[in-house]
Amino acid sequence: MERTLSPTLSLQGRLRVPGDKSVTHRGLMLGTLAQGESLLRYPLKAGDTLSTAAVMRALGAEIVEQGKHFHIKGVGLKLLEPADILDCGNAGTLIRLVSGLLSGQPMFSVLTGDASLKRRPMGRVTKPLLQMGARIEGRDGGKLAPLAIRGGGLSGIHYEMPVASAQVKSSVLLAGLFADDDTEVVEPAPTRDHTERVFKHYGLPIEVEGRLVRTRRAEPFAARDLTVPGDISSAAFFIVAALITPESDVTLEGVGLNPTRTGLLRVLKEMGGDLTWEVTEGQEGEPVGWIRARSSVLKGVSVDPKLIPLMVDEVPVLAAAAAWASGETYIPGLEELRVKESDRVAAIAKNLQNLGVAVEVGPDWLRIQGGKVRAGAVEPFHDHRIAMAFAVCGLPTGVSVQDAEWASISFPTFWEDLERLSGKD
Ligand code: S3P
Repeated sequence: MERTLSPTLSLQGRLRVPGDKSVTHRGLMLGTLAQGESLLRYPLKAGDTLSTAAVMRALGAEIVEQGKHFHIKGVGLKLLEPADILDCGNAGTLIRLVSGLLSGQPMFSVLTGDASLKRRPMGRVTKPLLQMGARIEGRDGGKLAPLAIRGGGLSGIHYEMPVASAQVKSSVLLAGLFADDDTEVVEPAPTRDHTERVFKHYGLPIEVEGRLVRTRRAEPFAARDLTVPGDISSAAFFIVAALITPESDVTLEGVGLNPTRTGLLRVLKEMGGDLTWEVTEGQEGEPVGWIRARSSVLKGVSVDPKLIPLMVDEVPVLAAAAAWASGETYIPGLEELRVKESDRVAAIAKNLQNLGVAVEVGPDWLRIQGGKVRAGAVEPFHDHRIAMAFAVCGLPTGVSVQDAEWASISFPTFWEDLERLSGKD
């Protein structure tokens, strides 16, 4: 479905974005491993996390919607052997984290997903899981899904991760809950730490020493309620939308402000963004607060590559901000963006060009000449964040977005929320 947006004159108001995708995936998985019943409050109910709920049900959990929440009846540490192939849809976080979980289970399971997921690299998780003793087969020597896993009998490892990836870290830590001996993961750079926080919330073994994270075999643990903060990666679209649209003043409420996720706020501030935020509560291990964004005159910057893991999903919308900034924005450290839901480096460049923006592309960098954006067509490349980021980029000029329904993978109310804040509903 194509959506055509006329030029947006102003964005005003307050918005509570849907629940955090990363925390929802983890809450569903840990609620499944727990004994007893719990409430996962304000989870994200969108394509990716509904895939996780379906996979957890196939492993024995009872998960039912209760108003805005999920009521989960856990299985405990010994999951049910699934009767069929497990479909992870478009969700990289699901397939990689659940590979770790299933590696710990003495049973047979097969994981697959959509066309995009079957192209994404799985060797980064199968390599350490094989080292721990899981038996995993997959296409291309175990590097691509479908993955067939026969788990159990794991030993702990000390694993120095070659890529800064929270999914890899989390996959190994989840397997570590079922391993003899300690399991240690060392990150090359800090990545989102939701798994560590959620383990702590449930009383599971977790120790953090700088960039080293350690866990060990879990004892049966009791279910506990968990509240999911609003997703800063979804808030990011409205933050940038408010900065680049004239006469705008938008406040995002109840947003997760975990410091391993706030890289974009720091870069937008440096670009001159009129942006304030405050942590107002600590919600079961995650800092939560508000962010206010107002129309701003932005200037191009050279982004510190160390910040990229702290804003990895926000690079498309940063590129949208850069398109409206005066001068040049250089964004290095983008090698991981090549293997997301789409090749995001290429998808960003193509969409910037569609909107008349000059861009140079390197293997792992983008150089964007800001200041000249014209109306045009957005091609999402089957990627939710590309669809939303470039819808935002085209707000002030007007834009048409093909396959606009891709937004529902992580932000089902995106289009409605946009209409409401722009006074068009
Ligand atoms: C995620 C980690 C990141 C991120 C993804 C969610 C997670 O992926 O891009 O959307 O929940 O752990 P990588 O681990 O591949 O960087």
